[in-house]
Amino acid sequence: MLATRTAIAGLTLAISLWTLHGHAAASPGPDASTPASASTRPSALPPMVHPADNPATPEKIALGKQLFVDPRLSGSGQMACQGCHYRHLGWTDGLALSPKDNGQLNTRHTPSLYNVGYQTAWYWDGRATTLEGQVMAAWKAQINADPEQVAPLIQAVPEYAEQFARVFDAPATPDTIVKALAAYLRTKNSDHSPWDRYEMGETDAVSADAIAGQALFAGKAGCVACHTPPYYGNSTFYNIGLEHGQESPDPGRFNVTKEEADRGAFKTPSLRSVALSAPYFHDGSRATLAEAVRYMASGGGADPNKSDLLLDRGLTDAEIDQIVAFLEALTSDESWDQPRIP
Ligand code: HEC
Ligand code: HEC
Repeated sequence: MLATRTAIAGLTLAISLWTLHGHAAASPGPDASTPASASTRPSALPPMVHPADNPATPEKIALGKQLFVDPRLSGSGQMACQGCHYRHLGWTDGLALSPKDNGQLNTRHTPSLYNVGYQTAWYWDGRATTLEGQVMAAWKAQINADPEQVAPLIQAVPEYAEQFARVFDAPATPDTIVKALAAYLRTKNSDHSPWDRYEMGETDAVSADAIAGQALFAGKAGCVACHTPPYYGNSTFYNIGLEHGQESPDPGRFNVTKEEADRGAFKTPSLRSVALSAPYFHDGSRATLAEAVRYMASGGGADPNKSDLLLDRGLTDAEIDQIVAFLEALTSDESWDQPRIP
């Protein structure tokens, strides 16, 4: 695994050096002088793998993007997926806990959707084992819809009906709607951050504090054991002691595995673009990134089930700020525009 990562890093570095070389050439040909567009910038992430039964096309992704922001999908007709997952808030909504379409409050904080296509288990407790399954569940639970009733409403919109016919050669159904949404979610990637550009040789892409912060993150502070590059997160579950001592703490991963060792354990989130998505943790209990970093670096809460990898690292305030500067340098700058709903 490590060898593969190194190989990928080496390859992207080679591509980036090659691109730089092309730009620096004295008399570049027409291709070499074309500025690299966003999509041709060397990526810090591996290529996205789309499932065999849901291959992505640009038209399918564009359709999924419209569905994502369309409140017609919900039971009330008022709430879109976007209602809790906004681009400018790192695909979250700024709330500790968010009310669903039926008015009930969620018991867990809205997670970011960045790089969600690279995960292998979805939700804070990993109970969904495919992204398509996760999307179907969110459609029913978060926006309170009966997909069998909503699909004909979508199909009744001529512009949607035409798009579904072109993309799937089929009408809008619960299955085709979910597939379009999932294909779109697989494009919501946080990549090309200043830190990625720094690692690819752009030495002035980040501040000295960010460089010092990364050294702490990968060294003395021990963060990298769980927040592993390139996603700075992984689909593994740990108890960090957040709800210790509370009356009825969230069982987390235990609900899925029924193993005591997983009680109170939650998925390690990706830290790419984490600076956009305050508040933090599965309970939304920490308002700022500095508070979240301080909590992690001081060893978390005192739960008996807490991971042994979390220790009090004795960091100074200045060191906490440096780690925050590093995490801020993981914010990506891809463009996103609100699609028009048919
Ligand atoms: C009312 C707020 C709300 C709305 C609206 C909403 N979500 Fe979410 N979303 C959440 C919450 C809360 C979670 C985490 C729940 C949990 O882990 O138990 C979540 C989790 C997710 C995840 C999993 C992320 C991960 O890291 O595992 C995906 C993907 C997702 N939502 C997509 C969608 C889609 C697609 C829609 C529309 C069909 C949608 N959401 C609508 C609040 C919302
Ligand atoms: C034992 C594995 C582990 C280690 C080590 C670790 N983390 Fe985490 N981190 C997690 C898990 C698991 C969560 C989510 C837990 C929850 O919400 O219950 C998390 C959550 C976070 C969050 C909140 C992200 C969000 O979107 O809500 C930040 C920020 C964070 N960690 C930073 C750090 C930093 C900085 C370090 C090093 C000082 C660190 N972590 C060390 C596993 C780890």
